[in-house]
Amino acid sequence: MSTNMQVLLASRPTGWVQESDFRIVQSPVPKPGPGQILVKIHWLSLDPYMRGRMSTGKSYAKPVEIGEVMTGGAVGEVVESSNGKFKAADYVVGSLGWQQYAVSNGEGLTKVDPKLVPLSCYLGCVGMPGATAWTGLLEHCKPLAGETVVVSAASGAVGSVVGQLARMQGCRAVGIAGGKTKCDFAVEELGFDACVDYKAGRLHEDLKAACPDGIDCYFENVGGEVMDTVFRQLNAFSRVALCGMIADYNATEPYGVTMMRSLLVNRVNLRGFIVSDRPDLYARAIGRLGKLVAEGKIKYYETVAEGLENAPSAFIGMLKGANLGKQLVKVAPDR
Ligand SMILES: NC(=O)c1ccc[n+]([C@@H]2O[C@H](COP(=O)([O-])OP(=O)(O)OC[C@H]3O[C@@H](n4cnc5c(N)ncnc54)[C@H](OP(=O)(O)O)[C@@H]3O)[C@@H](O)[C@H]2O)c1
Repeated sequence: MSTNMQVLLASRPTGWVQESDFRIVQSPVPKPGPGQILVKIHWLSLDPYMRGRMSTGKSYAKPVEIGEVMTGGAVGEVVESSNGKFKAADYVVGSLGWQQYAVSNGEGLTKVDPKLVPLSCYLGCVGMPGATAWTGLLEHCKPLAGETVVVSAASGAVGSVVGQLARMQGCRAVGIAGGKTKCDFAVEELGFDACVDYKAGRLHEDLKAACPDGIDCYFENVGGEVMDTVFRQLNAFSRVALCGMIADYNATEPYGVTMMRSLLVNRVNLRGFIVSDRPDLYARAIGRLGKLVAEGKIKYYETVAEGLENAPSAFIGMLKGANLGKQLVKVAPDR
């Protein structure tokens, strides 16, 4: 190990992210100081929230500065340690950034067990997206057996777990996703009861057919026209977990929602949430999901970009829907 490839934020995008908004640099591998560890990153997670970190708009977290390493969750192996809590050959997950090596004082890092589930799962179904699905569905929607749960971006990292958890609760799980391949995957591989292709141009009609008893819980990942259409079909006293609005992330103007009245007349309980606000639930969710994945009761799929240099194009692809399941970058091979 001699050099450390890093991906920096080069400029703030307006509208769609471009590869030129990133700069790839080579720097010497850093030396950990007293109390610090050096982590060799194996897997980097690419997540929609990173689009928000590239901008200076008001948010719940501060933006990445120009010239800084892009922020991102990663999992890797401790290769040097001067910190009593970690030793060489431990595996850790945390916010380590878009780089091959990271120095950390250990704050915010969690040890993970590569024997329970593959390392990459700690960035997906047994990581932040899994905990998001758990929190939004079970804490905010609280679905009852027999109810209909709809989730958008159904074949993605969060949505794929939401649908499977909804089925485990005895609910009818209906996905919304872009394209036949993603919808077939949700039904045939993940066990959703139905999945509607919003790109087919008949979302209202197709969703009505897939939800004959209306919608009791809606797990919102995308916003925009999809959200507006689902709002029209919400049942009285339904619950909406407002998790993400990816349709707006690259838009220069936010989508103008037209169906707010439906929230009023149906006395809908809509709750926006950020997974990191509830560390207690996060830890519980990860514990439970780890077991469910290890037992084969939760299935997952990963789209993998090979090599850190391909992170910018894979990130842009994920924002445009090129991923099936969790979008990852393989930075170094697992041992
Ligand atoms: N609140 C929280 O704490 C929290 C935590 C994690 C994630 N999130 C949010 O959850 C959502 C899903 O995240 P994820 O990591 O699971 O991503 P993902 O679903 O794995 O990937 C993003 C997907 O969004 C869909 N998409 C993109 N543009 C769209 C549009 N205009 N209309 C409809 N769908 C569109 C694409 O799928 P299709 O091909 O199906 O369109 C794409 O594959 C994001 O909004 C993210 O910001 C929130």
